[in-house]
Amino acid sequence: MPVSAKITEFMERSSWIRKMFEQGALLKSQHGAGNVFDFSLGNPNLEPSASVKKAILEAASNKSPGVHGYMPNAGLPATRAAVARKITREEGFQIDEKSIVMTVGAGGALNVALKTVLNPGDEIIIPKPFFVEYVFYCDNHGGKAVLVPTKSDFSLDLAAIEAAINPGTAAVLINSPNNPTGKVYSQADLDGLAALLRKKGAESGRTITLISDEPYRGIIYDGARVPSVLKCYENSIVVTSFSKDLSLPGERLGYIAMNPAMENGQKTYDGLVLCNRILGFVNAPALMQRAVETCLEDIVDVGVYKRRRDRLYDALTSFGYDLVKPQGAFYLFPKSPIDDDVAFVNVLQKKLILTVPGTGFGGPGYFRIAYCVSDATIEGSLKGFEEAIREVKG
Ligand SMILES: Cc1ncc(COP(=O)(O)O)c(C=O)c1O
Repeated sequence: MPVSAKITEFMERSSWIRKMFEQGALLKSQHGAGNVFDFSLGNPNLEPSASVKKAILEAASNKSPGVHGYMPNAGLPATRAAVARKITREEGFQIDEKSIVMTVGAGGALNVALKTVLNPGDEIIIPKPFFVEYVFYCDNHGGKAVLVPTKSDFSLDLAAIEAAINPGTAAVLINSPNNPTGKVYSQADLDGLAALLRKKGAESGRTITLISDEPYRGIIYDGARVPSVLKCYENSIVVTSFSKDLSLPGERLGYIAMNPAMENGQKTYDGLVLCNRILGFVNAPALMQRAVETCLEDIVDVGVYKRRRDRLYDALTSFGYDLVKPQGAFYLFPKSPIDDDVAFVNVLQKKLILTVPGTGFGGPGYFRIAYCVSDATIEGSLKGFEEAIREVKG
């Protein structure tokens, strides 16, 4: 079957994680799965909590007529109301179900949000390093991703964002806690960003939407706080999912929370709901909406991820790796000890350690370690991490 030139090129560009996956499968078949240390995927290895599993079983045994039917495209009103209460409680931001759309994960939510706000050729500013799918999602809806640098600690570089804004800028897309860096943006950075977007919007007469991708909001350490983007900026749309905090990535449930003070608020909300429908999602999975409604708070034991972060961070720094200690998500993003991150990832691979080059995330010179893996994988990998840096540093 013919494949378009664009998709052929996209497949090539998006191939880093897939390459690692394929390499991993090969190495596992050669050396046995237990001897390969796979840090390549952000697939949480913690099971959902017992109460989440129970809620899924209960939702599945609901015999009421119509439970398997279509529903409003925005999702079940009771689930949306429960989500709105959680946001109000946790962020101190007043919102109700009329500003919530249930979606097929954060990926679905991002596509719905981008389709709603983009005109053909519009630009979306994205701080890098970034979650690779963003570029493809922007293209899906006729948008162009404009990548801007962050500072050396991966915090927002507001001057770089300001320099990139032009009359074609429709949106800024941020992600905190961040994949791949684990960075949590500070209140001051978000306030500064909001002030900048207001100023530039007023100058050009074009409102700039802030889209905040937050699937790791619940996975934070050391008493860190993820500031509320909804509170900071009126023209904001938060997208998120239950993939990481409830460990349900395969169940494909997420949501959009639109700031009710958004310019053209009702029209924007109606647009989001329409896009959820016409992108072919129609509505988010019914069973999962019923299940999570009762257990939104029952997130995985973040202490386990913290233990893994600390173990790896302490070990890697003692071996001489240079890395920022992240306060959120489950990724480490160390500097590659040699300039060529792809070459270093290959050195690690010879030690049967699978990571992803920063180049794949718009962050050359670094590599990503996804530590949502077992303690045994971490312990087994340490010798290889130590040997790899010694080999390249001499
Ligand atoms: C930053 C970020 N955004 C969005 C997603 C998509 O997640 P979901 O499973 O909710 O579609 C991921 C998945 O890894 C991610 O890391």
